[in-house]
Amino acid sequence: MEKQTAFITGSASGFGLLTAVELAKRGFQVIASMRSLEKAGELNRLCRHHQVEDRVKIVRLDVTCPEAIHFLLGEIPPVDILINNAGFAMGGFCEEVSVEEYKEQFETNFFGLIAVTQAFLPAMRKQKKGKIINISSISGKVGFPGISPYVASKHALEGWSECLRLEAKPFGIDVLLVEPGSFKTSIWSTGKRIARKSMPDSSPYSFYMKSILRELEKGEAKHEDPQIVASLIADLCMRKEAGRLRYPVGRGVKTALFLKNAIPWKTWENIFLKKLLGK
Ligand SMILES: NC(=O)c1ccc[n+]([C@@H]2O[C@H](COP(=O)([O-])OP(=O)(O)OC[C@H]3O[C@@H](n4cnc5c(N)ncnc54)[C@H](OP(=O)(O)O)[C@@H]3O)[C@@H](O)[C@H]2O)c1
Repeated sequence: MEKQTAFITGSASGFGLLTAVELAKRGFQVIASMRSLEKAGELNRLCRHHQVEDRVKIVRLDVTCPEAIHFLLGEIPPVDILINNAGFAMGGFCEEVSVEEYKEQFETNFFGLIAVTQAFLPAMRKQKKGKIINISSISGKVGFPGISPYVASKHALEGWSECLRLEAKPFGIDVLLVEPGSFKTSIWSTGKRIARKSMPDSSPYSFYMKSILRELEKGEAKHEDPQIVASLIADLCMRKEAGRLRYPVGRGVKTALFLKNAIPWKTWENIFLKKLLGK
């Protein structure tokens, strides 16, 4: 295989970190970006463990900082594959999340991703080849109560990626969406407005949040190994032929997506409300 270079955002932990290592193990040159180089310890350790240090270059990038993106472009070799992975999850009920907070969520999960993609596109277009893998979520296809900022940002990403896919195709650039279910990474503990303490009992929605958190806690034990997602992303990077747009991954994800499209909304809604509120 001709040696390819992949650029990953948010490589300090979770899918980004594991994907960087997996790609290096498979022979890719990897540029693993993270917003704080102080968090590079685990990636460095894993690279040493797998003896792939020479294939992984760690660079600093906060995707919400356009100047940093443009500075970085001048510092790195041409990239064949861009993996837009950086993101965080913000919870909260629609009535209670401020517009500023929605903007904060979109700044990373949506606008940051757009800025990074726009920076890499011109070179890919000139090369007449490239691959852009956007890490979405089942939350990009399905709305859940209590997590509207995250859901909205991932739905926006899904729509934007559909447009980009059609626009980039004539230039030989493939755009893919990976849609994971629930995996064991730090995203659910580092998220904003997600922890139980983040909602005061005085909130009219606190009864709802309590039952959502109960369900989440029950589900936590079933969260899957994030290596499954990293391996899928690496498989997609290796694939020569143009692939599908969407790659759902995780227990129950395909079934949920099928059901959402197949059954009437009223039935779908009743299943949710019965599970969460016993109604
Ligand atoms: N885990 C799941 O169940 C799941 C399911 C569906 C989709 N996803 C998606 O998968 C992606 C990776 O998440 P993960 O589960 O691997 O969680 P994670 O371990 O928390 O990783 C997210 C990474 O994104 C980085 N990041 C956050 N804001 C950033 C910014 N402004 N610029 C650059 N990097 C930034 C974080 O860096 P810091 O450490 O500096 O904050 C962190 O390394 C996200 O897009 C997430 O939405 C996850």
